[in-house]
Amino acid sequence: MLLRLRRTRHAIFLKFLWSSHLRRYNGAPPDLSFERHHFPSMQTIEIPVAMRERLLRSARRAMKNAYAPFSKFRVGAAILTSRGQIFAGCNVENSSYGMTNCAERTAIFSAVAKDGPDLEIHAVAVVNDHGVACSPCGACRQVIYEFGPRAIVFYEGKNGPKQSLITELLPEGFRLK
Ligand code: THU
Repeated sequence: MLLRLRRTRHAIFLKFLWSSHLRRYNGAPPDLSFERHHFPSMQTIEIPVAMRERLLRSARRAMKNAYAPFSKFRVGAAILTSRGQIFAGCNVENSSYGMTNCAERTAIFSAVAKDGPDLEIHAVAVVNDHGVACSPCGACRQVIYEFGPRAIVFYEGKNGPKQSLITELLPEGFRLK
């Protein structure tokens, strides 16, 4: 009897640990009422560690191609699509500074250019060659949200590697119905 009680308590504790781990891994569930309509399967996306590492490797590889003579800050990004494809990009700067394209948008635009507008982004990884905190800029957050309202973003936070849902980085993202 005592043994069974202990086992039950043990099982409840393990369940709690697992659910809090998943919560920490994927962040708070976002409000996705509009997106549910446009993106058929709206469950929370889980990205296995091996896939996250693959994305980060792709981002690092792309980072080497960055054109960043002005900021000297090279950035690489990789996106994972709902079809399991990975697209990478780097930042491309310009003498007219405002024309600069961030790594995240380069990756997303490459995906659309290759496979068309039917893109659903499941995850985004961002790296930089200074090893400093660097989350996607505001413009990129909006572009990620356009194609991945439930995307998970892996990036360098103030206290090391971090992950957030795009809806945490961009609450109330803009939608044109
Ligand atoms: N940059 C990115 O490519 N992605 C980010 O998430 C942040 C900033 C680029 C833009 C510019 O070329 C350089 O980093 C410095 O701002």
